[in-house]
Amino acid sequence: MSEPSHDPATDSSVPRHVAIIMDGNGRWANNRKKPRHSGHRAGVKSVRLSVEVAAQRGVEFLTLFAFSSENWARPKEEVSSLMNLFVEALRRELDELHRNNVRLKFIGALHDLNAGLREKISHSEHKTQTNTGLNLTVAISYGGRWDIIEASKALARRVSEGSLQVDGIDDASFAGELQMSPMPDPDLLIRTGGEQRISNFLLWNLAYAELWFTDVLWPEFDEAVFDEALNFYAGKQRRFGHTGDQIEAVEC
Ligand code: IPE
Ligand code: IPE
Ligand code: MG
Repeated sequence: MSEPSHDPATDSSVPRHVAIIMDGNGRWANNRKKPRHSGHRAGVKSVRLSVEVAAQRGVEFLTLFAFSSENWARPKEEVSSLMNLFVEALRRELDELHRNNVRLKFIGALHDLNAGLREKISHSEHKTQTNTGLNLTVAISYGGRWDIIEASKALARRVSEGSLQVDGIDDASFAGELQMSPMPDPDLLIRTGGEQRISNFLLWNLAYAELWFTDVLWPEFDEAVFDEALNFYAGKQRRFGHTGDQIEAVEC
């Protein structure tokens, strides 16, 4: 994997953190009269590519939505083939990710996963924990509402133990209990597959993300499509509630 093509510390036209809702695998397979599972398998190639392109363009954090809290409701066979695919993909890709200095992390209700997958996840997090390149986070059995509820429980526990005052609950203390802590919020959200919705992804963290949607199905996501999203981002003025004039005054 090549080095970033710019200095991320000084170039704000490149998002520091990109999150992707990888949607459209099933329709990609349907279009080819193949079983849905072959769409999920084909999607692994797009994951590999997006990791390479993100690192090359100088993105520091890449967060991928692989399986939602609601995806457990899919047919049993699809769920179990997805779980097997996660194990297989980790087995096949881990060494290469490690060689490329990628630091892997998983978020979600990981205790709901089978023991084999949980073991692979902790091994891959442990093996890559001191890597200093791209921070790759994979959300499995993740839901934004679940994340917020768990954070609320953690804060409530701290209040009842006396280590936190109710009025001490603020943006920072709340965000600190969320799954993505201490990573920065996504700057750019990409969703493939044509739908323009969040589907219970990082509800809190996406508050100020730029949103970019494409009809391209996830197995067809490639470098040109990724660059289209990055170019869209580069053309945005991020105001965070301020006026455009205020932002320009700071930039000058
Ligand atoms: C996204 O593709 C992958 C997962 C949700 C696991 P889908 O499987 O949702 O594909 P479509 O939306 O049915 O085409
Ligand atoms: C969102 O896709 C979840 C993932 C990509 C993992 P879905 O296919 O589950 O979303 P909906 O059901 O179309 O909103
Ligand atoms: Mg879908």
